[in-house]
Amino acid sequence: MHITVHLPDGSTHRLEALEGWRVMEVIRDWGLPIKGECGGACACATCHVRVKEEWLDRLIPASDEELEMLDGAFNVEDSSRLCCQIIMTPELDGLEVELAEDSL
Ligand code: FES
Repeated sequence: MHITVHLPDGSTHRLEALEGWRVMEVIRDWGLPIKGECGGACACATCHVRVKEEWLDRLIPASDEELEMLDGAFNVEDSSRLCCQIIMTPELDGLEVELAEDSL
């Protein structure tokens, strides 16, 4: 499985991902810049990504906690998610996200 990550500097990265990994962990463990300050506890919003439209419906909807944390993030859009709350499953093979500026 893999995911594609677009960074604010315009670069694109195709990263291998394993089932059960959080997307935040995939991005971090491949050495891309992502703050992810709370380590995936849904308590910081520094793993803010915007999900490519065609993938939005395939994600498990955001929990109340995630929506609350997203409220405090910058430039939130309908496609915004906290990527520590997206767990890789085979259905998400090919997932494409753009890292938000406030997550760097
Ligand atoms: Fe803190 Fe995702 S890493 S909310």
